[in-house]
Amino acid sequence: MAAPDLTPNDAFDRFNRLQGANAAPDPYPEWAKKRRETPVWLVPPTEFFESGMLMPGSPDQIAVPLSFDAVVEVLRDGETFSSSAYANTMGLVMGHSILEMDEPEHFKYRGLIQSAFNRRQLDRWENELVRPLIEGCVAEIRSKGRGDLVRDLTFPFPVRVICGMIGLPEETHATFHRLALELIMIAFDPALGMAASAGLRELFSGVLAERRRAPRDDLMSELAMAELDGTRLDDEQIYAFLRLLAPAGAETTYRSSSNLLLGLLSDPEQWEAVRSDPGLIPAAIEEGLRWECPLTGIQRTAARDAEICGVKIPAGTPVHVCLGAANRDETRWENPDRFDIHRPRLHHSSFAFGPHTCLGMHLARMETRILLETLFEQLPGLRLDPDAEAPHITGRMFRSPLALPVVFDA
Ligand code: HEM
Repeated sequence: MAAPDLTPNDAFDRFNRLQGANAAPDPYPEWAKKRRETPVWLVPPTEFFESGMLMPGSPDQIAVPLSFDAVVEVLRDGETFSSSAYANTMGLVMGHSILEMDEPEHFKYRGLIQSAFNRRQLDRWENELVRPLIEGCVAEIRSKGRGDLVRDLTFPFPVRVICGMIGLPEETHATFHRLALELIMIAFDPALGMAASAGLRELFSGVLAERRRAPRDDLMSELAMAELDGTRLDDEQIYAFLRLLAPAGAETTYRSSSNLLLGLLSDPEQWEAVRSDPGLIPAAIEEGLRWECPLTGIQRTAARDAEICGVKIPAGTPVHVCLGAANRDETRWENPDRFDIHRPRLHHSSFAFGPHTCLGMHLARMETRILLETLFEQLPGLRLDPDAEAPHITGRMFRSPLALPVVFDA
């Protein structure tokens, strides 16, 4: 069991160490080389994943779709490429969440929380949660005169947004953040992941009991009152929903917005272009997501003998859908390794495709837009700290810079 006084920052360091973030070589050159040979790489998992990562069933071989077309083909066909194998990985700590459901079950359950992410709700989250949180973080950086945009801003704020949406009391937010990080350590340290899962149950249970008695206007109340085929969800079903939102909200937006900030701040011309023309913000956000997607791969299994772009895949083969490689497919994007907000805008794969397309994508985009708007407004002359070590993006499965030291004009 993790020490109770462990802070989210300690858990952050630990996770980065476990996944060898600092030591991981840039995976893109290897993926590009393989993608030129084949749209789908058949490879032993030990050769593909970082050392220390556990793969259930220890299969001899996995299929890794690398080309954009191969990734789309797999993700659009949820019947042939099932999500059920998540039950043996993330499902162990999350419970039976929509992530591991196939149709028709998936559609029914996803519908229960979809409304929390619709336009009307997003406007509410923007005004009540996102803007005040980001402005608070940036005001603190401003008062210090310098800062690390990862630790002081992109790391803490998205998780506090999720806490607010769920309706968790303020004093539990730091614990929620630590547990959300520890939950995904299941692939490296199963005992820690399981302890985090139990910790989240404990954290949710008191609030759920209260909301069952007296519902409020939050996600916990919505789930407490939700019915499927005339029956209320039981507590474990609700915890599974909420446990999925923990890493979905905590791990992704912080990494994607850090990557975008690094791309922009490393190229003052592009930073200035967006600063002086906020109409370019959406293009910059999509290019950041394409160039360095925060989560480079997701999991499927071939439910029957199948083919992906002509490559035969035997039934039962684990499929690691390489979103990162698809986003740098040179048959779709010219000079794909370059971060270029002015390039023609084409759909990238960072939010996946098909039935499991990210439910929080509009929220993530809105959070990132407000983050940029606030930085432009509150920190004039923002630039990477010339006296600090130049930051770079690290990691294989999860990618982002470990720090973004910055200075600005007083
Ligand atoms: C830039 C930020 C984000 C990225 C790149 C991202 C990426 C993804 C991807 C690739 C999937 C598909 C997983 C799979 O099928 O295996 C997914 C699913 C999901 N995401 Fe996101 N996500 C982001 C932000 C968020 C946020 C902020 C939330 C909500 C708080 C969220 C909630 C979800 C949920 C609930 C699912 C499961 C959908 C389903 O299974 O039907 N995501 N996300």
